[in-house]
Amino acid sequence: MKYGYFDDINREYIIDKPDTPTPWVNYLGSPEYGAIISNNAGGYSFAKSGANGRILRYVFNNFDQPGRYIYLRDNDSKDFWSASWQPVGKDLTDYISKCHHGLGYTKMVADYAGIHSETTYYVPKNKSYEVWAIEVTNNSNQIRNLTLTGYAEFTNHSNYEQDQVNLQYSLFISRTQFQDNRIIQQIHGNLNTLEEDEQVDEKNVTERFFGLAGNPITSYCGDKKAFLGRYNGYDEPVGVTSGNLGNTNNYNENACGSLASQVTLAPNESKTLVFVLGEKSSREAQAIIQSYENAKESVTFEIEELRSEWNNRLEGLQVKTPSPVFDTMINTWNAYNCYMTFIWSRAASLIYCGLRNGYGYRDTVQDIQGIIHLAPEMAADKIRFMLSAQVDNGGGLPLVKFTHNPGHEDTPDDASYVQETGHPAYRADDALWLFPTVYKYITESGNISFLDEIIPYANKGEATVYEHLKAAIQFSMDNLGPHGMPAGLHADWNDCLRLGAQGESSFVALQYYYALRILTLFAKQKNDTTYLAFLEAEQEAMGQKIQELCWDEDRFVRGYTEAGERIGERQAPEANMWLNPQSWAVISGLASEEQAELAMDNVFNRLNTNYGAILMDPPYHKHAFEGALAVIYNQGNKENAGVFSQSQGWLILAEALRGKGERAFTYFMENAPAAQNDQADIRQLEPYCYGQFTEGPASPNHGKSHVHWLTGTASTIMVGCVEGILGLRPDLGGLKLAPAIPKDWEQFTIEKTFRGKTLHISVENPNHKESGFTKLILNGQELNEAYLPEELLQADNTITLVL
Ligand code: NOJ
Repeated sequence: MKYGYFDDINREYIIDKPDTPTPWVNYLGSPEYGAIISNNAGGYSFAKSGANGRILRYVFNNFDQPGRYIYLRDNDSKDFWSASWQPVGKDLTDYISKCHHGLGYTKMVADYAGIHSETTYYVPKNKSYEVWAIEVTNNSNQIRNLTLTGYAEFTNHSNYEQDQVNLQYSLFISRTQFQDNRIIQQIHGNLNTLEEDEQVDEKNVTERFFGLAGNPITSYCGDKKAFLGRYNGYDEPVGVTSGNLGNTNNYNENACGSLASQVTLAPNESKTLVFVLGEKSSREAQAIIQSYENAKESVTFEIEELRSEWNNRLEGLQVKTPSPVFDTMINTWNAYNCYMTFIWSRAASLIYCGLRNGYGYRDTVQDIQGIIHLAPEMAADKIRFMLSAQVDNGGGLPLVKFTHNPGHEDTPDDASYVQETGHPAYRADDALWLFPTVYKYITESGNISFLDEIIPYANKGEATVYEHLKAAIQFSMDNLGPHGMPAGLHADWNDCLRLGAQGESSFVALQYYYALRILTLFAKQKNDTTYLAFLEAEQEAMGQKIQELCWDEDRFVRGYTEAGERIGERQAPEANMWLNPQSWAVISGLASEEQAELAMDNVFNRLNTNYGAILMDPPYHKHAFEGALAVIYNQGNKENAGVFSQSQGWLILAEALRGKGERAFTYFMENAPAAQNDQADIRQLEPYCYGQFTEGPASPNHGKSHVHWLTGTASTIMVGCVEGILGLRPDLGGLKLAPAIPKDWEQFTIEKTFRGKTLHISVENPNHKESGFTKLILNGQELNEAYLPEELLQADNTITLVL
């Protein structure tokens, strides 16, 4: 079953069957003012923090209510409906609905009873309020008398928990009043002691507004209970059924913003109304609402502005391959998803309510990787920020607070940090993610001097980027386990695998090995000969150790517990085969060709499913060791043998690095959202964004996916596709081209911006290979390897690569 389709020209996903298996959402705005909106107008808004700046209420686990509702009522027939299918939920044989999720905006198109409406929701560029613009058209042949009613459910407190849980307090601090063209909500209004009517003590009083431009207001309501009526739901609010909002304000209990406006339309006549919502003083609100007096023009201009901003953000890499699924993901939706994780981290979705008050170190350092090929300088700023959250001992702060103050932060060594963040210790891997991220930025941008930039540490002192990286290596060396591999500390990437502080993770050891390789390249560049000699010796020694301790005939094991138990070995009754150590043995460069083949074939045979490879097998049930927290999950879910989608990215990359294009592409397709557009009832999540995991074969719901949008999957798959399948691998001197593709791709093109230059690349595959090199022509000149040295590039380059 499918519920919609991709419009690649307009970069929209259009849902034409609104009863989707889960709410399918879009993101609007920026961290200044963010909003989530579903295909049925459900979702919420917040300023700066999902948990501490919540403006619009949303009730989790309640199937997508409330939302940004606009009701339409025919005042002659008294029939009513909503501009999105829900909340009124008219019979879908009479009600035609199309929800266009675009980049930075969502447009609901509805046709019912001869009335056509188009409602566009967006946060204007660089603004911190939201707009709901409805254009309503009379497509019937009679004059129609309509009432349009907008409804916004304010929270009673900006803090999510106070609003939802602490009712003995939060029900008695909110009040609304109507002024000219808007409802004003005040929280803690009693704290305003300023004399003049128009003045509000903005430090103590929070003011929100819900206003209308484009048509006069005929009635209003600021009280949720009065709007709904006793025991009515959002599908039949008395304020709508009666055709009159009753002009009621709230004083205590639950506020809302609701405004009604009567519109009379001759046949074929249209009218645009603009509802505006935000957290602003009443004075500012007045000016904002007035700026929409020319409703249609303002809205058209602002939407165009958003579209062109997003098109610019994406134009750095555009591909045309024989796979529409690959193209739509890489050109638009995976890239958009990467920007969302980059911007929002794990702050707000219909799963994350925003309570984590900061950035996870590894999450963010990985999220950055997903946009480096499109926006290297935007990435660099965030890398600087993350380096400033590295402690001077080289470890990363497990949680980097939104209020992060470089040079002045407490660390996991301080009880205050532990108490404030709930993170009791360093993680073994956090700072090791810096290596691939910094390498990707420097090689994409060519900005090698980045290594010399001075950046503060989180707690005290400062150092160059190069020294920060050295400190990260030192951190691992200072925290070795009994076998000499990096110690497990609190955990590695896998939150559910606690090997113990003195346990040792093969994943971290492989990351460390890879980090040494990357730092070697930088040390060579800097002529840091003594350190270089150290790095080479350390890499050699660590490589040998991993080989001795972790290779088990046809697989790399997952590590050692503090008690000395080897996890992931062949004869273990459960969890005897793990995915990540195999892919990382290839990515890190440690695995020999023979080992890579054995291990990766083992992955394919043991772990792969129609929806991607599961994280390990068999799931934990009876034989979980004490730190195997995955056993708390139902089998086939999450870390307990689910398809953990982030790991698919590393798998794609590993196969592509081996030149195995068929396998790399198979893994891509198995877990690609767009490839499952026709199986939405199985996958359930939006077909245009990644999820955290898909239930594995041990679950009765194999194929069902969860935790939409904000997941490390987006960036990791992007890297797997860009560096792996497309084979765009920048290094310090230029760009290596090493595609690994399905054999039946005869040709594809890549349009890429690289260090300010334009590359038009055509890859020809006349002999149906999955990788390899026959010929490279750069601007008419034949080169003898698949490599574009930067000095040969002109402003505009025509490149043909023959496999
Ligand atoms: C924590 C990582 O940061 C996250 O991206 C991943 O989903 C889980 N670990 C896996 O356990």
